[in-house]
Order: sequence, then structure tokens, then C-alpha cells
Amino acid sequence: MKTLTLIQPDDWHLHLRNGDILKTVLAHSARQFKRAMIMPNLKSPVVSVDDALHYRQEILQARPNNSSFEPLMSLYLTPQTSVEDIQKVAENPFIYALKLYPAGATTNSASGVNNLTAIYPILEAMQTHKVPLLIHGEVTESNTDIFDRERLFIDTHLIPMVVKFPELKIVLEHVTTKEAVQFVESASKKIAATITPQHLLFNRNALLVGGIKPHYYCLPILKRESHQQALIIAATSGNPKFFLGTDSAPHLTTLKENACGCAGCYSAFAAVELYAEAFEKENALDKLEAFASFYGADFYGVARNTETITLEKKLWKIPPYYGENDIQITPLKANETLNWKQT
Ligand code: NCD
Ligand code: ZN
Repeated sequence: MKTLTLIQPDDWHLHLRNGDILKTVLAHSARQFKRAMIMPNLKSPVVSVDDALHYRQEILQARPNNSSFEPLMSLYLTPQTSVEDIQKVAENPFIYALKLYPAGATTNSASGVNNLTAIYPILEAMQTHKVPLLIHGEVTESNTDIFDRERLFIDTHLIPMVVKFPELKIVLEHVTTKEAVQFVESASKKIAATITPQHLLFNRNALLVGGIKPHYYCLPILKRESHQQALIIAATSGNPKFFLGTDSAPHLTTLKENACGCAGCYSAFAAVELYAEAFEKENALDKLEAFASFYGADFYGVARNTETITLEKKLWKIPPYYGENDIQITPLKANETLNWKQT
């Protein structure tokens, strides 16, 4: 049987939630990934060092027995974030970054930032203390077309920010457009991007053709095929600025299959397999290990992992949902087949 062995990957963008959903999803990520950058957009967002340390304990307690999965924590940047908070983050061994959500951009982002220039003193402190900034890069003005929101964020906010803070490390999270790819490619070494499996495997047809498919609705929204192509080329190019970040974002099935469905795709159940499928279609499986396991660690300046995971070529059917009792989470590609499986 054909197999693929990789140095164990890290997930540089992961939503685990808390409580029962955390307990349902964590084992999936912990089986594949050594480390993950944990997103702070809980219903009550993770805004302080203390919040992050409590949340980290909750995650550690929910880990399967013998798991050595490491949650790398991030704080939610709000208009109240202080320079003192940045100093504390810089000194803390468990907190790696701050996440910037423009207010209203996505799930649980009401505490985000409306006026980006107002937080420039915080960005200054982050630059000084070498704390990376993770960005959900979409403008949020209600009259802006949803398919243009990432491109406009880059032009209006990101380019001026990068000019003002040239030494600040920035990850443009879950890039979805060729303009984002071009921006990251032409920017300095301080700028990198994560790419999700859904944006490599699908375009907006998956969401909208033949009926509205809520399990393909995530933010930034899937774009047209030419953008998908640009992402595939970036991910498989061997350019270390692009690395794995699943953005696996579990929501209850009832809240996705809803008149006002939540944004987020659940991919953690087989994230590496989904990426393998995308890379294989491009005849680029030889590029998967560096994308999944090396470039993110190198960008963040942490050691590469040393253990390995193995996938085997094997058709299997993705179940209709994961979880039990009240917790039902529909995975990406539910009821369809995948052709790789972790051993
Ligand atoms: C994420 C979530 O559900 O928390 N949703 C999504 O569509 N990606 C938030 C985010 O990363 O935008
Ligand atoms: Zn996310």
C-alpha cells in the first residue's frame, strides 16, 4: 500500500472552542498535530494573559491520555489591549501572538477593532517586543461586497501597516485571493500567510451551485476558481511564506443548517488528509511536508518537530457528523470519500 510519512505537522490556525465542543474536537487535532496556534475568539474572548492561561489549562485537561499535543496560545486584540499586556505576552512562554479581528468580520468578533490606526501604539509595542500579529484580513463595512473584502483590507489597511511597522511579524491568516498571494510574495520576510484545506480544495461553486451548502460557508468566503488556483500554486510552490493553518472552526450542525448559518468549516477530523488530497491533485505531494511541518515552525522561530505521522492511500467515507448527544458537528465533505488516511 502506498504510504506517506511526514515529520509531524503543526496547525498554525485552529479554533477549539471550550466546554463540550472542545471535548468533542480536540482528539482529532491532537492525533495529527504536535502543536497548534489556538484562536482566542471564544464567546467570551481570550483578552488577557490570565484568560489565555486558564484556557490553556482547560485544553490540557481535555487532551486524550498520553497526548503531547501543545496548545500555543494567542490573545484577542481589542481596543482595550494595553502596552503592558504586550510586555506580559512577550515574557510568557505559552502565549505566542495576538489576533486582530476587524470588529464584526467573523464569528465572535464583536470585541474586535474598528479603528486600526488607534491600535498603532500596540503594534509599535509588538514590533519592539517581537510578538507576531495574526490578522483576519477583511474590511467590514456593510456596503462592501463580501468577495472584495480581503483585497480591500490589503490595500486600505495592510499596506500602510507594513510600511509603518516594517519589523513587525505578521501572518495574514487564511488567505483566499490571488491579490493576497501576490501581496505576501512581494512583502518582506516578516510577512507570511496560512492557507486552509477548504480554500485549496474548493471554490465558491461548492458553496452555491445546486443549492446553498452551508458546510462550505466560512470566512473569508470561498472565491472564484482563479483565486483557488493562485492558492494551490502558492501552497505547492515551496515558498516558505505559505504554511498550514486549517482554520478548523467547529459549529453545531443546527447552527450551520440555519436561516442565518454560522461561518466556519470543520476540518480537524482529517486535516492532513485533506491537504494531501489537494497536493496530490497538483502532483506536489513532495511539497506537503515542508508546507505542513517546517515553514510555520521556521517563521515562528520554534524548533521543527522530530516525530513523524504516516498516511496511507486508502478510500474511506467521511461520516455525516462527529460528536454525540447534543453535540453534532458536520465535517467538511461529510458523506464523501477521502483517499488518504492517517495510520
Ligand atoms: C471562524 C470561527 O468560526 O471561529 N470562522 C470562519 O469562518 N473561519 C472565525 C474565523 O477564523 O474567521
Ligand atoms: Zn479562524
